[in-house]
Amino acid sequence: MSTVEEKSQEVTEEQPDDATPVDPPEPPPATEAEPKGGILPAFLIGIVASLIVGWVVFPQLLYSKKRQPVDFNHAIHVREVGNDCAGCHYFREDGTFSGIPKLDKCVECHAEPIGISREEADFIEKYVATGTEVPWYVYAKQPPCVFFSHAAHIKMGHMECATCHGDIGESEHARVYQENRITGYSRDIWGHNISGYTRHTWESMKMADCARCHQKENVHQSSVQTKKGACFVCHK
Ligand code: HEC
Ligand code: HEC
Ligand code: HEC
Ligand code: HEC
Ligand code: HEC
Repeated sequence: MSTVEEKSQEVTEEQPDDATPVDPPEPPPATEAEPKGGILPAFLIGIVASLIVGWVVFPQLLYSKKRQPVDFNHAIHVREVGNDCAGCHYFREDGTFSGIPKLDKCVECHAEPIGISREEADFIEKYVATGTEVPWYVYAKQPPCVFFSHAAHIKMGHMECATCHGDIGESEHARVYQENRITGYSRDIWGHNISGYTRHTWESMKMADCARCHQKENVHQSSVQTKKGACFVCHK
């Protein structure tokens, strides 16, 4: 037995070429061949992985998700308050928009609990009882340099709320607010699809989105491209 082993060792040392097909040298050719056959799959896996990172993981990391302090139910309240949306979102005498109602509006009905829901009890304990305004997040919030007027769009332009805000007015739950970790702006400005593709007018409200509609509607002196001073239509 030992002689056979010695002989075979001698053989491999002397004639490595002949020994190759037998046994030990077999693994190296196999591993060398693998990358060649695997280039296309590896390439595809790489593409898919980077697409997932870019389109799914990156937006997840870029935006921090925040719950509204109170899970506000628009559907119930639009029925209860009357006068439709203007029961809470109205224009003041001077033409300015009231925006989100203040706590005193809520206290008209919620000074004492009306129902038995946990959400209402929490709201009363935390805000009504202590007289604290609810720190709502505003999905459509623009950067401070932007001037936006609801009166121009609703009173003069006769536009629907949903054109810019979607169906918030019919919703039963407050949706999650997403804040860009770098700029601090709402995701509703930059758009929900990272490619910039939008299916609905309310999915993004960047400068280009405002300008596109202004051009289409031929809003006077506010075409970004043509008029000098046009910037100050929307900028403070
Ligand atoms: C015209 C009266 C009225 C006003 C004004 C009003 N609410 Fe309500 N609210 C109701 C009624 C009625 C319910 C249903 C109570 C129930 O049956 O649980 C309700 C329910 C709620 C609930 C529980 C929601 C749920 O899904 O069960 C919360 C939270 C709440 N309101 C917050 C507010 C806040 C915040 C404001 C102010 C912006 C406000 N309400 C203004 C009448 C009112
Ligand atoms: C009882 C008062 C009340 C009534 C009536 C009401 N809202 Fe609201 N609305 C609120 C409160 C409180 C918030 C802040 C919480 C939230 O974002 O859900 C809000 C927020 C909004 C926002 C979010 C703005 C932003 O960008 O964050 C929109 C849009 C809106 N309401 C539209 C409507 C429309 C459309 C109607 C009528 C169909 C309506 N609301 C009726 C109380 C009301
Ligand atoms: C042309 C688009 C457009 C239309 C139409 C529109 N909004 Fe807005 N809305 C905005 C923008 C943009 C903001 C953010 C303004 C800012 O940050 O200065 C906003 C902000 C708001 C806010 C939050 C205001 C705050 O307290 O900061 C509420 C509430 C609101 N809109 C309700 C409504 C309702 C109700 C209607 C329909 C009657 C309506 N909007 C129609 C674009 C629009
Ligand atoms: C879907 C269409 C649409 C969108 C989106 C829109 N606007 Fe407008 N905007 C109009 C129309 C129409 C008018 C003119 C209303 C009128 O005077 O009859 C107007 C008027 C204005 C005015 C008053 C202009 C003037 O000369 O008096 C300002 C300011 C303005 N828009 C700012 C904005 C900003 C900022 C945004 C984006 C956050 C925006 N708009 C998005 C349609 C739009
Ligand atoms: C139709 C309305 C509108 C007009 C006209 C307009 N802008 Fe804007 N602009 C916006 C809105 C809304 C934003 C915020 C959203 C964004 O960054 O796209 C913005 C953002 C910007 C920013 C980025 C500011 C920041 O804090 O990130 C700059 C810079 C700017 N605009 C310059 C201009 C200049 C220069 C003009 C004139 C050629 C102009 N804009 C005309 C609506 C307008």
